Amino acid sequence: MKKNVAIIGYGGQGAWHAEQIKKSDVVSLAGIFDFSPERIELAKDRGIMVYSSLDELLLDKNVEIVVIATPNDSHKELSIRALNAGKNVICEKPVMLSVADLDDVIAVANKTGMHFTAHQNRRYDVDFLGIKQIITEGKLGDVVSVESRVHGSRGIPSDWRGKKEYGGGMLYDWGVHLIDQITRLLPNEKIKKVFCTAQHTTNFEVDDGFKLTLIYKSNITAFVEVGTLNFISMPRFYLQCKRGTAKINDWKQCAQVAYCKYWNEKEVMPVQTAAGITKTMAPRDEITLDEYTLDIPKSDVHDFYRNFVATIDGKAEQEVKYEQSRLVLKIIEKAFESIEKCQAVDFE
Ligand SMILES: NC(=O)c1ccc[n+]([C@@H]2O[C@H](COP(=O)([O-])OP(=O)(O)OC[C@H]3O[C@@H](n4cnc5c(N)ncnc54)[C@H](O)[C@@H]3O)[C@@H](O)[C@H]2O)c1
Repeated sequence: MKKNVAIIGYGGQGAWHAEQIKKSDVVSLAGIFDFSPERIELAKDRGIMVYSSLDELLLDKNVEIVVIATPNDSHKELSIRALNAGKNVICEKPVMLSVADLDDVIAVANKTGMHFTAHQNRRYDVDFLGIKQIITEGKLGDVVSVESRVHGSRGIPSDWRGKKEYGGGMLYDWGVHLIDQITRLLPNEKIKKVFCTAQHTTNFEVDDGFKLTLIYKSNITAFVEVGTLNFISMPRFYLQCKRGTAKINDWKQCAQVAYCKYWNEKEVMPVQTAAGITKTMAPRDEITLDEYTLDIPKSDVHDFYRNFVATIDGKAEQEVKYEQSRLVLKIIEKAFESIEKCQAVDFE
């Protein structure tokens, strides 16, 4: 039998959940609650049941799962209320604004025996899955560095995302997704140093973009960039390994891969540049280099709800684990510290 879900916050993301839940094979939509009269009217127009208060939603015994899709600063209080009301909770990202807040919420989850998870849906993005597949298969050898970027050109949205009191800023917005992805690409690597710079081009209160470098104990580096003032985008992913390179230009594109079959070359044809010739920067030929594209991996965002329902039923391990969410928040805290000090900071 499907499990009933109620959504707190029927804005952009709450409506997305509602649409997905309507199509789901494991959950069904009981109703929503929102403060905003416009959003309530919209939900009603779409045939969705609207609770008259948060208490009414939390007292509904038919509801087993609550999705929290409100601005970031309200996640903690709403999560604790829902867990204490005996609900399992899917909380939107950023799951909390600090490690300490997450620990408080996890303590309530443990006390009540309810399940709690962050909605890290970008683990289902095919660009991420493509790079993950390449690293996992290992054909390109050890990872040297991985770069992950998203670039927009409209500045930070003018809603609550631009305000500090609501937990705004790009580190908490897109940063959470990209940092979570990096930690999944390099799950066994330990971070040594964190360096981050923030941009304030369209907004002085919160970062409207950032550049974050993670230096691992193994000397692998990961670079994460979110930009909102980029009229030309750089590749979504760029992966450097000891035996090859992979690049993904955009969200839905295949990975382009170059695999170095033989290190030694017989003869290198120099490249003519305006100021002279270079062999160092000349491209390799097809004798030593194999170039190909990967098929786009299969992906289904509904696996997120399937996993959470199976976790509640004791049939699966929760995919987005507490310690993973904790690691992402710790990286963000260190990134803020690095921005403040304008220097690389120790991770431990
Ligand atoms: N996982 C993703 O891909 C993704 C994408 C977008 C947003 N999000 C996250 O979802 C959350 C909501 O973002 P959004 O874009 O939908 O914002 P939004 O501004 O479009 O919607 C927020 C809604 O919550 C309502 N609200 C605020 N406080 C409330 C409360 N205490 N009780 C009930 N309703 C309340 C508002 O009236 C509004 O309708 C944020 O945490 C955001 O980071 C996640």
